[in-house]
Amino acid sequence: MMSMKKRKMRYRPVGEPTELDLRIMELERKGAIVPTRELIKTPEQIEGIRRAGVVNTGVLDLVASEIKAGMSTLDIDRLCRDYCAAHGAVPACLGYEGFPMSVCTSINEVVCHGIPKATDMLREGDIVNVDFTTILDGYYADASRMFIIGSTTAAKEQLVRVTKECLEIGMEAARPWHDVHDIGRAIQRHADKYRYGVVRDLTGHGVGCDFHEDPEVLHFAVRKPGMILVPGMVFTIEPMINMGTWRVFIDEDDPFGWEVISGDERPSAQWEHTLLMTENGVEVLSH
Ligand code: MF3
Ligand code: CO
Ligand code: CO
Repeated sequence: MMSMKKRKMRYRPVGEPTELDLRIMELERKGAIVPTRELIKTPEQIEGIRRAGVVNTGVLDLVASEIKAGMSTLDIDRLCRDYCAAHGAVPACLGYEGFPMSVCTSINEVVCHGIPKATDMLREGDIVNVDFTTILDGYYADASRMFIIGSTTAAKEQLVRVTKECLEIGMEAARPWHDVHDIGRAIQRHADKYRYGVVRDLTGHGVGCDFHEDPEVLHFAVRKPGMILVPGMVFTIEPMINMGTWRVFIDEDDPFGWEVISGDERPSAQWEHTLLMTENGVEVLSH
């Protein structure tokens, strides 16, 4: 008898396979890219992530109520850090791969990962992204919002608005049992209408039991298939949309090598939610 190598299946149910397990295994047999069992959160894990999400949303609500011209980004860092500590949580960014602060504050042409500084004062007309990730009892929630300081130009206002629409359109495109890459196709289609650049070097990600898990959530269109989204998966969508080119570079002036700048140094915006996939689409766990 010919000895045949069995195809290695990625999905391994724990114990007797449930209906959900069987559906995933069937898709995998047909050649689909499926999540591992660990990416499908248990009800207990979902509750933990939900609680982390409540604190994380509280952090950004506090920033929303306090942020104004004349504040430094270091002031924002303190605000976030103290709120987090008062709620028994830990900022995931602090010390993460050498990141020196508790929150990312990215002003104007800074695409993401801006480092808070005493010398970075917020000024009238700035657009700033505040991105915070909370760890509560070992569970992670990750979200960011844009803030307009005072009033700004119509062009920057539109960028902030359309980027938020990109997130919302991405959320609608995220369907259970469909391809994660549907999200990026929908986002790219919307951004293209405005001739904006969709950043490709940074992506959304699975989240919840760790800071960055599978799958990679692309915000731009690709032809190849991606992972199937299954109820119980938790991930972010966090489009970074540039007014000009989609290209980005690392700021050479940043001694930590974290700050990402748009290629043409024109403004950039980003919005991020942590999302739970359900039987009927996504539920927001942190905004
Ligand atoms: N919060 C960012 C994200 O959305 C990651 C920031 S990593 C840090 O994935 F180290 F810069 F904080
Ligand atoms: Co994220
Ligand atoms: Co984030």
